[in-house]
Amino acid sequence: EVVQHSLEQSLCNSAIEYAKHAGVLIGDRLGNMGKVEQKKNASDLVTEVDKLSEDYIRHKIQTEYPKHWILSEEDCGQADSYETFKSHKTGYGWIVDPIDGTTNFIHGIPHFAVSIAVVKDGEPIIGVVYNPMTDELYSARKSFGAYRNGQRIHVGDESVLAEAVVATGFQASDFKAGSRVVKQIDALAGKSRNIRMLGAASLDLCFIASGRITGFWHEGLNPWDTAAGILILAEAGGNSTDKEGNPYFLFHDSLVASNGKIHDEFLKTIKP
Ligand code: IPD
Ligand code: CA
Ligand code: CA
Ligand code: CA
Repeated sequence: EVVQHSLEQSLCNSAIEYAKHAGVLIGDRLGNMGKVEQKKNASDLVTEVDKLSEDYIRHKIQTEYPKHWILSEEDCGQADSYETFKSHKTGYGWIVDPIDGTTNFIHGIPHFAVSIAVVKDGEPIIGVVYNPMTDELYSARKSFGAYRNGQRIHVGDESVLAEAVVATGFQASDFKAGSRVVKQIDALAGKSRNIRMLGAASLDLCFIASGRITGFWHEGLNPWDTAAGILILAEAGGNSTDKEGNPYFLFHDSLVASNGKIHDEFLKTIKP
């Protein structure tokens, strides 16, 4: 019990250290991101800096926690993430998004983050999300609350959609006229206070956790987008489900997150 407690505290300290250092590497390369490559299409990009950040974080984990598995976006994440996860899901593992919000980074929009989670037996126990441009570091340890720069954070208490600012985003392959997200936005129009598309899913979850926005939904996210953020949100009193309302699991294809209080009304409104 005591040994596990101090191991998990040191995992948390390590995740914070890695996220901050990677954030500095990224911030230094804003406006100088090197070669930009297309992955699946013109909305799906990766830069040298994504890889630099990921290589640094992977190297630190491999050196300091050589027995832990790692799932990260630019390395092995694309092809067989679920298989990787299933075959390694026992014990401790790390789920890493080296830059969440690459499009913002490429366009010089100062809203992106490093997202690092530690998972134990399939469940996030530590989550860290760091935006180097605002120097805001969100962190949580399971059962120990959620924090921004050391201050405890909580979800907001909006109780109806009419008081809620909600956010969403398109998965790169789904930015098309008539897509489900477009219809969901139409269904929400005039019902929520307003809507945002901020471009970094990990930060959307942290924004709900700290009361800046009230809800977020997104299809087609990957575990590295959500693993840290959903723990931070849960520890701040929020809720995350799939679009049917089932508790969110890292490989669910849809995520609906909120402060909890608007959750049912939100689910009902965006129901396809
Ligand atoms: C993306 C961001 C974005 C979301 C995309 C994600 P990336 O992650 O989280 O907000 O809309 O679906 O892929 O590619 O910048 O790490
Ligand atoms: Ca990406
Ligand atoms: Ca991401
Ligand atoms: Ca990324």
